[in-house]
Amino acid sequence: MLTLAASAETTGVAALLLQTFLIVMVSTFVAATTIARQLVMPVKDKLDVKDKVLLQLLLKPVLISAARLALNNGPATPTSSSATGRDSSPSKLQDKPYLGFGLGLRTEHFQDVIDSEPEVDWFEIISENFMVKGGKPKYYLHKIRERYPMVMHGVSLSIGTTDPINFDYLRNLKTLANEVQPEWLSDHLCWTQHGGINSHDLLPLPYTEEALEHVSSRISATQDFLGQQILIENVSSYLTYNDSSISEWEFLSAVAEKADCLILLDLNNIYVSARNHGFNAEDYLNGIDPARVQQFHLAGHTDYGDYVIDTHDHDVVHSVWDLYAKAIERFGQVSTMIERDDNIPPLADLVTELNMARAIAKAGTGALSHQQAR
Ligand SMILES: [Fe+2]
Repeated sequence: MLTLAASAETTGVAALLLQTFLIVMVSTFVAATTIARQLVMPVKDKLDVKDKVLLQLLLKPVLISAARLALNNGPATPTSSSATGRDSSPSKLQDKPYLGFGLGLRTEHFQDVIDSEPEVDWFEIISENFMVKGGKPKYYLHKIRERYPMVMHGVSLSIGTTDPINFDYLRNLKTLANEVQPEWLSDHLCWTQHGGINSHDLLPLPYTEEALEHVSSRISATQDFLGQQILIENVSSYLTYNDSSISEWEFLSAVAEKADCLILLDLNNIYVSARNHGFNAEDYLNGIDPARVQQFHLAGHTDYGDYVIDTHDHDVVHSVWDLYAKAIERFGQVSTMIERDDNIPPLADLVTELNMARAIAKAGTGALSHQQAR
């Protein structure tokens, strides 16, 4: 049995102090970065790459303490299938379609998409960017939705937090989903906020049994509310917790199984974390159940030699293409899209990059059919 090693006494005065310390630390950091920037940035990337590393390194002891404190205080969400009203019978994966090759829909390309109708099979939107009534983004969204299938990808679910589930957020998400009618909804296996304070970063969880129970029950409750299975994505990270007792891929697999959700496998995130933490990216792929994988993300990163940062501001690099080829070998045809969030090139360049994914997938699945035929 994997357990966190904090004693029950920490729920008293020490716990209160610890919680206060956490709030002060996070508030200070968020305030400092906000003031420094003095402008409003897109939801997807409110912190730059240095912030991402700094935040995770500075807050490492606080993150660990917060995880211990919160878990010792007990999850704020239902913990059993009866509590969530879910059927505890064996997993039944919903039949979601294979979409082909897509791109992240970005503001810079709205008009170009409408004018040129590029050879893109589908688009992924950042849900939070469209959780508004009316406006120009909504106009473009509807115009583009008329011509292309879409999926919705969120960055604010904060499914791993110990704050109560934000049903206001989920109501807004559901409203947007009713409007867009996406093929599916996804978000990240992470936490982004605590005590109502948003870090605007996708922070990793400790890979423990307590965290597994906690996050799985929250995903189950979220799926119940939304009335559908969701996809959960692996994040890139720059720290690990001493309390983690299993690998990230074991944790992700166990969460998907327990919550009966699907997986959005970000191959660039696997590569980034493998480099930063020194694990084998292929071990990660081999530890994931193919039946759960519904989508791949591909993206670029920045390589600093000793470490790698998930910047989404470059083309996909060779090593990630290689990993994609291995993923195709293991998982077969999986809906694939390229995420680009900064240093955004012309749409035509991204379509060319997407064609690289098509070629690799075609070659890979060809090899797979050949193997199966033998
Ligand atoms: Fe991703």
